[in-house]
Amino acid sequence: MTGPARRHLISLDDLDDADLHWIVGRGIEHTLGRRTDERPLRDLVAGILFRKTSTRTRTSFSAGALRLGARLITYGPGDLQENTGETIEDTAAVLSGMLDVLVVRTAGGEAELRAYAVNRRMAVINAMCAEEHPTQALADLTTLTQRFGRIDGLRVLYVGEGNNTASALALALSRYPDTELYLRTPPDYGLDQRFLDRAALNAKRSGALVEERHDMDDLPPVDVVYTTRWQTTGTVKHTEDWREVFAPFQVDTAVMAETGAKVFLHDLPAHRGEEVTAEVLDGPSSLAFQLAENKYHSARAVLEWCAGAETRGDPVSHG
Ligand code: CP
Repeated sequence: MTGPARRHLISLDDLDDADLHWIVGRGIEHTLGRRTDERPLRDLVAGILFRKTSTRTRTSFSAGALRLGARLITYGPGDLQENTGETIEDTAAVLSGMLDVLVVRTAGGEAELRAYAVNRRMAVINAMCAEEHPTQALADLTTLTQRFGRIDGLRVLYVGEGNNTASALALALSRYPDTELYLRTPPDYGLDQRFLDRAALNAKRSGALVEERHDMDDLPPVDVVYTTRWQTTGTVKHTEDWREVFAPFQVDTAVMAETGAKVFLHDLPAHRGEEVTAEVLDGPSSLAFQLAENKYHSARAVLEWCAGAETRGDPVSHG
């Protein structure tokens, strides 16, 4: 193989601290409109495979790859021969001979994405799977850095389902010294224990705090309140009364006032009147739509890192 090796981003744990800081820093550079003339991915071909609906992530990676000079092949949920029984391993062996990057959203797990990541000729990017939404967390970190100038020491209250956005947020924030992440998740809809354990390991190293409870009592003072919609893409609820269980976990002006949070974040899409009131989502504290735009800036940083384009100014070539 010639040319730079590609790098997979399937979990935040695939990034060491230097990688993580580089991607967030590069995302900030993109928010500032720097490097708009550079096309480090020219001559590369990116596959965009979305088995599930997406507005922000699909568009941010597609537009990002195009802006960086790549060409795209897009696959919808019914396009590949996997639908007729071809294995992911065989699919990956074929695609990796032709593509440089494959951006995948699936309702399956991390193992499915790892099956695509067969070699270093084609980078695989997790655009959301059942367990983790790592590129969302990178956009979250970019937005927090843009707003506060730092991540270290920030206090964040996450309210809502312990879904893939929450697990990625826990893995991300726990990497930064003295951050505090308070998760308030509905009973039986908390974070997967494996992610709490992994975040706890990070926190032990960094001095961060990650704490989960299943009620909305005694909310802590925080800088940021974060929520996601109750109906996570690609999932179904396992209890019929889930709306009653989730009802107390709505973010409204009372939650913002009790915590003293200056910033509200939502990964979108939102359902006003469910997980958040319109007053908060559309209010002056909300950076939800700034975060959505930052997904595009952050996606370009991720693409550069995965393509191996961050170590040099020259365009990368297909190996
Ligand atoms: N936040 C997010 O992942 O949005 P999409 O589902 O629209 O990509």
